[in-house]
Amino acid sequence: MAFFEWNENLSVGILQLDTQHKTLVNMINNLYEAMSMGKGKDTLPKIIKEMSAYAVSHFSSEEKLMQMYEYPEYESHKKEHELFVKKIQEFKTEINKGNITITLNIANFLKSWLVNHIQGTDKKYSPFLEKEV
Ligand code: FEO
Repeated sequence: MAFFEWNENLSVGILQLDTQHKTLVNMINNLYEAMSMGKGKDTLPKIIKEMSAYAVSHFSSEEKLMQMYEYPEYESHKKEHELFVKKIQEFKTEINKGNITITLNIANFLKSWLVNHIQGTDKKYSPFLEKEV
């Protein structure tokens, strides 16, 4: 069983965004797997870099749609995205310093952040963006 499995409870009802969320779930699994196999030290910086770039691109997709449909909670949602990117930057700094003991924390943080964000924040835009399906 994978560390993190996407399921229908995580669906926002918009195919494009569900697909992007699934990719993020896969990336978190890759990170966890690399760590479990003791490859964290070699692969962690690359995985984190790719995930960070992908998350930024996903956030940008959501923000564009929210703006397009004049979603009323756009600003607070965007702020959550910014805080997440900031957190990833902090992880990157730790990794660059050679502090890889935080790997497990990273995988757990990413998983719980994504679940909470999708279920608590992303899902709220569904009724506003449904036209995009
Ligand atoms: Fe799917 Fe708001 O991130």
